[in-house]
Amino acid sequence: MLGRVAVRVSSPVLVGRAGQLSVLDGALAGAGSGNPSAVLIGGEAGVGKSRLVSEFAGRSRGQGARVLAGGCLELGVDGLPFAPFTTMLRELVRDLGTDGVATLLPGGGTRELARLLPEFGEPAGNGDAGEARARLFEQVLVLLEQLADAGPVVMVIEDAHWADRSTKDLLAFLIRNQHALDGLLIVVTYRSDELHRSHPLRPLLAELDRVGWVTRMDLGRLSRPDTGELVTRLAGHEAGGDLLETVYRRTEGNPLFVEALLGEGELGSGLPESLRDLLVAGVRRLPEETQELVRVASAAGERVGYALLAAVSGQDHAALARGLRPAVAANVLLTDADGFVFRHALIREAMHDELLPGEGSQLHSRFAEAIGADPALVPPGRAAAEEAHHWYAAHDLTRALTSAWQAAVESSHALAHAEQLAMLSRVLELWEQVPGAEQRIGTGQVEVLETAMRAAELAGEFDRGITLARAALRKIDRAAEPVRAALLLETIGHLKYQLGREDYAADLREAARLVPVDPPSAARARVLEALAHDIHHRPGGWDDAEFRAHAEEAVAVARQAGDPATEAAALVTLACAEPHTQDMTPARALLAEARAVAMRANAYQPLLRVAITESDMLEGMGQHELAAGVARAGITAAREYGLARTSGAVLAVNLAEPLVSLGRWDEAGEVIERALELLPPRLSRSSLWRLAGDMALARGDLDAAADHVASIRAALDRTRYKDEHQLPLARLETELRVVQDRPAEALTVAEEAVGRFDLLPSPRYAWPLLAAAARASAPAFAGRDRVLLTRASALRDQLRAAAAKLAVEGLAQQAHQLTFTAEVLSAGAWAAGGPGQAPPSPGPDPAADLGGLRAAWDDAAQAWEAVGQPYPLAAALLRAAEAALNAGDRDAGAVRLRRGGGLARELGAGPLSADIALVARRARISSSPGDHPGVAGSTGHPPAPGLPLGLTAREYDVLRLVADGHSNREIAGELFISVKTASVHVSNILGKLGVTSRGEAAATAHRLRLFAS
Ligand SMILES: Nc1ncnc2c1ncn2[C@@H]1O[C@H](COP(=O)(O)OP(=O)(O)OP(=O)(O)O)[C@@H](O)[C@H]1O
Ligand SMILES: [Mg+2]
Repeated sequence: MLGRVAVRVSSPVLVGRAGQLSVLDGALAGAGSGNPSAVLIGGEAGVGKSRLVSEFAGRSRGQGARVLAGGCLELGVDGLPFAPFTTMLRELVRDLGTDGVATLLPGGGTRELARLLPEFGEPAGNGDAGEARARLFEQVLVLLEQLADAGPVVMVIEDAHWADRSTKDLLAFLIRNQHALDGLLIVVTYRSDELHRSHPLRPLLAELDRVGWVTRMDLGRLSRPDTGELVTRLAGHEAGGDLLETVYRRTEGNPLFVEALLGEGELGSGLPESLRDLLVAGVRRLPEETQELVRVASAAGERVGYALLAAVSGQDHAALARGLRPAVAANVLLTDADGFVFRHALIREAMHDELLPGEGSQLHSRFAEAIGADPALVPPGRAAAEEAHHWYAAHDLTRALTSAWQAAVESSHALAHAEQLAMLSRVLELWEQVPGAEQRIGTGQVEVLETAMRAAELAGEFDRGITLARAALRKIDRAAEPVRAALLLETIGHLKYQLGREDYAADLREAARLVPVDPPSAARARVLEALAHDIHHRPGGWDDAEFRAHAEEAVAVARQAGDPATEAAALVTLACAEPHTQDMTPARALLAEARAVAMRANAYQPLLRVAITESDMLEGMGQHELAAGVARAGITAAREYGLARTSGAVLAVNLAEPLVSLGRWDEAGEVIERALELLPPRLSRSSLWRLAGDMALARGDLDAAADHVASIRAALDRTRYKDEHQLPLARLETELRVVQDRPAEALTVAEEAVGRFDLLPSPRYAWPLLAAAARASAPAFAGRDRVLLTRASALRDQLRAAAAKLAVEGLAQQAHQLTFTAEVLSAGAWAAGGPGQAPPSPGPDPAADLGGLRAAWDDAAQAWEAVGQPYPLAAALLRAAEAALNAGDRDAGAVRLRRGGGLARELGAGPLSADIALVARRARISSSPGDHPGVAGSTGHPPAPGLPLGLTAREYDVLRLVADGHSNREIAGELFISVKTASVHVSNILGKLGVTSRGEAAATAHRLRLFAS
């Protein structure tokens, strides 16, 4: 037995955990070589997460890595936003100085960081809080990027189960953006046993699990042999089997438990029942005077500064140091530069719980008073939140209220909206219980509700924002304060809109009714702008006369009231009211005006909106070059404002889209990739994937295209219908299924989209969908499947009806419309009869108007030429060539095939190139005019080198069709030859293969894998 033998309080070496260490080492090495990595370490309290991480941090430092570490505090929920980041930054400042940190940021831009660390001075005050927060996040990202440029960086966030909302947001942002950060490893620890079902960390973990470079590590208890080793290390000598057995049975390998048990030193006699007792037992052995100080410290939280503890305990530093020395010696408290930390949070909890109720309140009051008297006793920026916490814990409601208000005011500077909301909620919770609350904080209840409502909006708690706004509305007299009521209603309407609810317009209308016309006010301008904007975004809203009227009035009122930001926003909205025509002069004039107004006022939000709207409109009209130019300039501006990830991503979509149209696919691919690296919001992501999917499909990478379709589907799941997202997805998926040769599925996708969505308000996205759907119906007309044929006929009728009503706005839509017409004609040319008739035999219907078909495709090609889109141009040329060849016009066919083939090759559009080459080969047309196109001969061609079994190239083509089960008539149709010639080819083939039937020929072809590719 251990008896009275002195036992170490903790093991000098790390026991076990070699596997985990090597995982971490590997992750760090990987991060250095361009593989971003984040490791999330979960485990029960005391299992050794901190120990593992600190061991790893130590060896990483030894290898030259910079380690930034910060822990989340239990106090976090009560308003210490960004706690671990503040700790890290403070550490960094200690190391590099504020100037040193400033030189790492472009233009010395530390003003955003001032929100985390007041040492950096006054935070930048302009702009709205939502954007400022986005800028702060990007600044932290830039800072890490710069640090990681100099060498590997390990960022450790401990105890994420206590993370405040802001910390979680920033952490998630950094991990998602790690792709852009070479050399950074992020390590996060959390207590898995704390994660009850509705724990706020759970959704974050689930989200991060989907990020490719995130690894989860479950840190389990020590094995029996490892526990034995730990006991040996702690005892300083080998321990006997009995002792080991007892320790293992009691502790089940939890190292903290092992330490506590051995520290108890009384293994033989009555073992303490619980972990808590074990932990407290360590404190109980301390002198009474020390215990008293430890209890005082426990009320401070996990960490307490010397000066604060001195102030609260009423002892001077020397006495304090003397009194606490035994606690440090016993490893109950650890010291650092400014104060004490409990070795383990559980010890602190246990000690705090030991306080008698009155004693606890009194202690917390003393802390609050001390901090109130001298805020410098706690780290800068934390005084208000700490004070608020202590007054609340002391049950002093009045001061809890006033200090929570103070903390709320301060957390708004830190952009910690969720924490601000928490503090304001506390103010509101205490409001009725504290007499004269309004006088005490110098602010009325309605104003507190309004402030809370804005915090909720910024924190993304829209439902809560609506509740708060409603509560405020109930407390005011609409007749007496119409402007205030109107702005509340405007917020309610706006939040409902954000939530995807349909009933927002009534609130906005009521707001517009309430806000007085005279005198013209910024409030009225805002309400009108909101109303116009929201009407515009309602499907079909753009031709609402109300919309233009509101937008015009909003511009006028904003001008009179001197509110340039709203004026610029309203001008953008007004530009959207302009008719959608090829001549965009009026719309662009309004946008130019909006840009000028926004520039003068330095209102970057409307400025970016101008760029987004203008590039989108131009692209919609097929003005691809102009659209790309505007979007490119917008991206630069977005980057300058630190909004590359949000507005910048929307603009990246608006740049990539015209580039795709123009056939500049490599360039588009780079834009998409760069934007995706920042993991932008999911709607932007889905648009980027869609453009990538379009290119993948055209290049023949069907797997990638299918992956993109699946990702977009998942991203759009449960979002409100927006034509610009859902219609292009349906179009892409239809095209994909056609190319994958899954005609039934292609029909299903097209049917669903056409049946479910109202296409009329969205010609820009509806025309391409109609064309794709018409194309999807063609195989059914050419095939023998009656069910498919019936469906395709019904779909075609639906498409025609929709097309008849759909507007055509601008050249690009005209090109799509002509393509649609040609597709419908093509499908018709293959349909010999309606669904009631005998299945048609494949091959063009002899009665089809091939001349008309060719003209239709020529028209489409011309339109694509006019808008400068080479890919659909080449595709239309191929279809025109087929029609010409079917009609026997070889020259016309040849010209179109050569032009289309050249375009497709330049684009790298593999499948289209192959199709064109195939048609050319069947028609015996060489790829360039100089190659002497031969006459469509029948026999007598020498076997081409490399072709098996002495087959000629032509026979090879015919055999392929035979192997696919085609009849002579079908073969003739495919190869533009007569049925007789086809039958001659087939007999020759049978002879060369030494078989007697087509079936045998097919079997031979399959056996020899002649057409395996
Ligand atoms: N593998 C190990 N070898 C030696 N000592 C260990 C080991 N793991 C943990 N310990 C010791 O056990 C105690 C508890 O470990 P630690 O503080 O790392 O736990 P934790 O998982 O971080 O707990 P919490 O969730 O409470 O933060 C510490 O004193 C630590 O030194
Ligand atoms: Mg820990």
